[in-house]
Amino acid sequence: MIRKAVVPVAGLGARLLPATKSQPKEMLPVAKKPVVQYIVEELAQSGVRQLLFITGRGKTSIENHFDRDQALMDHLRQTNKGDLLAELDFEQSGLHFWYTRQSVQRGLGDAVLHGEAFAGNDPFIVALGDSIIRTPGDATICERMAAAYEERGAAAVIAVEEVPREHVSLYGIVEPATDGGVFTVGTLVEKPRPEEAPSRLAVAGRYIFAPVIFDLLRRVAPDACGEIQLTDAIRMVCESGRRVVGVKLEPAEKRYDIGSIPSYFETFIDFALADPDHGGRVRDYLTALLRA
Ligand code: G1P
Repeated sequence: MIRKAVVPVAGLGARLLPATKSQPKEMLPVAKKPVVQYIVEELAQSGVRQLLFITGRGKTSIENHFDRDQALMDHLRQTNKGDLLAELDFEQSGLHFWYTRQSVQRGLGDAVLHGEAFAGNDPFIVALGDSIIRTPGDATICERMAAAYEERGAAAVIAVEEVPREHVSLYGIVEPATDGGVFTVGTLVEKPRPEEAPSRLAVAGRYIFAPVIFDLLRRVAPDACGEIQLTDAIRMVCESGRRVVGVKLEPAEKRYDIGSIPSYFETFIDFALADPDHGGRVRDYLTALLRA
């Protein structure tokens, strides 16, 4: 089982302005919870115990959210609102949180490099702070990836999902070297043009790495925007002869990307409809609204 996770949350969220002018995109509400709480809950369910956030300027509300707020709990008790205490149960997830800052925006690869001392000699998960993965089954995608990491002696494992051809230029795209739901990755390329994409299998915001990734990240040259791409370091893992494994999302599994306004709207609606207490009312409201 993998006990450590690195969650990069340093991005500016420019595509979600003005909502993200003074609050991190990872703290935008999706139904009742902020985006990042879904990710932390997924990681806790996957067996993670130590979690490092790679933060940046203006991200302190993430730290506040996961801190135990004794004053708020006392206030709820004293004002007869004890029933609301259950909403704070996530504070007792059993996770130990760490925070460090990426002061200069130098890309996802550079953000992950900030996790080197935290990871030490252990394998670790990287979970992007703006992607929620909803799993209806028992095993989370990270648990299935951890099993593949061990069974296949991999140096890196990547979650992938099939995307429409016209969307491949938004993602890292893998070239499978074998068939199946768990497969060997031949190579991968960051944000290819549709005509150059080796497949429609997109890197879906969850990774597992052996610590060798740090040596390779240090060798990646910055791209045209000055960013160190994590995808480039994973390609170097493939080229070094070490095994990189892809794990496909199950058909019933869904990835929600909070990186743009339309997908944020869709995500909010999906989770509001799925809310066990309020979903029915939302459904009635939307049905009536769309009929009118
Ligand atoms: C990043 C990665 C990309 C991956 C994507 C998933 O891109 O660089 O390989 O497919 O996340 O969301 P970004 O969305 O930060 O541009």
